[in-house]
Amino acid sequence: NWDASNIIADQVAKIRQQVGEHQVICGLSGGVDSAVAATLVHKAIGDQLTCVFVDHGLLRKGEADQVKHDFVAATGIKLITVDASEDFLQALKGVSEPEHKRKIIGEKFIRTFEKAQQQVIEEAGKTGKEVKFLVQGTLYPDVVESGGGDGAANIKSHHNVGGLPKDVKFQLIEPLRTLFKDEVRAIGSQMGLPDDIVWRQPFPGPGLGIRIIGDITKERLDLLREADAIAREELSTAGLDRDIWQCPVVLLANVHSVGVQGDERTYGSPIVLRPVSSEDAMTADWSRLPYDVLARISTRITNECRGINRVVLDVTSKPPATIEWE
Ligand code: XMP
Repeated sequence: NWDASNIIADQVAKIRQQVGEHQVICGLSGGVDSAVAATLVHKAIGDQLTCVFVDHGLLRKGEADQVKHDFVAATGIKLITVDASEDFLQALKGVSEPEHKRKIIGEKFIRTFEKAQQQVIEEAGKTGKEVKFLVQGTLYPDVVESGGGDGAANIKSHHNVGGLPKDVKFQLIEPLRTLFKDEVRAIGSQMGLPDDIVWRQPFPGPGLGIRIIGDITKERLDLLREADAIAREELSTAGLDRDIWQCPVVLLANVHSVGVQGDERTYGSPIVLRPVSSEDAMTADWSRLPYDVLARISTRITNECRGINRVVLDVTSKPPATIEWE
């Protein structure tokens, strides 16, 4: 019989035993999984935990501030922020193959955590003592789809599973590894996390990097960030946030089509809207969003995002497509 309180009590005891006196860091992404994982670990070991938020330059509009303020306000957990955007963008330069992007991003995250270690040690006042553990909010579906489940195929390397480098020095603490998202949300609520964290829609760790089809540049990221912010704003205004699982907004950077804007010919890229409904992300259906909401999103994106002259809707379920395009 599934019970959130039992799982919390079990995990807290397990984590306490595993960690002992050591320092622990947790990579925070802004999403519900890492927030719940961090809160569980904090419950177990208090100030031995420091969260690290990596700004990899692939975030959505306003996301970094949200994490820095909302999460800390809700939990009181120690947080350090690392701006690694130049570093990530440099490493991703010219890369367009999805698995290659994912491996680079997974590796960069770990290297950034390794560097952040020093700061954690200094602040903890325990110079010389290594940070032994890294907490990740890995869920059961992430493990399965990264090829970590029994005999499962590698569909895509989730940044915190198949995307990890082989020589990770940290021992991993993954208290959510056997759970599905709805269970994680139940645990988060039970521990008192606010609704706007618990009900945040999923956003992948590799961020907008896997929503630009083609190679990643600063200009493309800025363009996609704007389009994504418009779609999110309109979906929220229409009160649809809890009706859909998530709505990836994807830039087909290497596709061009002809348009006419302000009496002039344009030759721009399309934006894809990918609204989906799902229980656990293992399967999904495309969401039948109201036409007027789609129309508003389309009008605003083509008016406000210079270089976008077409908005298209993805009407494929999973399978055969995955939710994200890469
Ligand atoms: P797919 O595209 O595999 O996505 O159907 C299933 C769910 O997982 C999210 N996703 C990720 N989350 N790291 C994450 O933290 C990743 O590398 C990653 N890849 C996909 C995706 O947004 C969807 O909710």
